[in-house]
Amino acid sequence: MNTLIIYDSLYGNTELLARAIGEAVTGDLEVARVGDINLSGLGSFGLVIVGSPTQGGRPTQAMQEYLNRLPSLGGAKVAAFDTRLTNRWVRVFGFAADKIAASLAARDGTLVAEAEGFFVKRKRGPLAKGELERAKAWTRGILETLES
Ligand SMILES: Cc1cc2nc3c(=O)[nH]c(=O)nc-3n(C[C@H](O)[C@H](O)[C@H](O)COP(=O)(O)O)c2cc1C
Repeated sequence: MNTLIIYDSLYGNTELLARAIGEAVTGDLEVARVGDINLSGLGSFGLVIVGSPTQGGRPTQAMQEYLNRLPSLGGAKVAAFDTRLTNRWVRVFGFAADKIAASLAARDGTLVAEAEGFFVKRKRGPLAKGELERAKAWTRGILETLES
């Protein structure tokens, strides 16, 4: 299977996760920052995983603009993740992954996993302990679902 991982990242934590997720993927892999990837052709990938930092309860502006301009995904299999703070108060704003998942579904993407959030200890990071491994496990779960 060929997999595309699209991410945005201000301080590098979401990029680290995107690359860890890529390590858990089998088959052909492309990992691209949101500004470096075309809008078309996503439907040719067997799996498209999209991740962004949560900023103000949403994906980054670049990611939102990308998602807003995305053409139909033609049923392509998709999954979404974000990075987020552990503080309880941030929950009130919501999280990026849910909004990415909703955008992908609205463009005829087929969600193959629950939107997932991974924690940073502080705004600039680092990632909380074990999150890279948890991201790999999340990815392996997706692949198992697709194979069954
Ligand atoms: C402008 C701004 C707004 C943020 N808003 C939220 C938020 O609403 N909820 C949250 O959990 N984290 C929030 N954060 C923390 C980010 O989630 C954190 O910086 C990000 O996960 C780090 O990922 P990155 O290194 O890939 O940029 C915010 C960070 C910035 C810079």
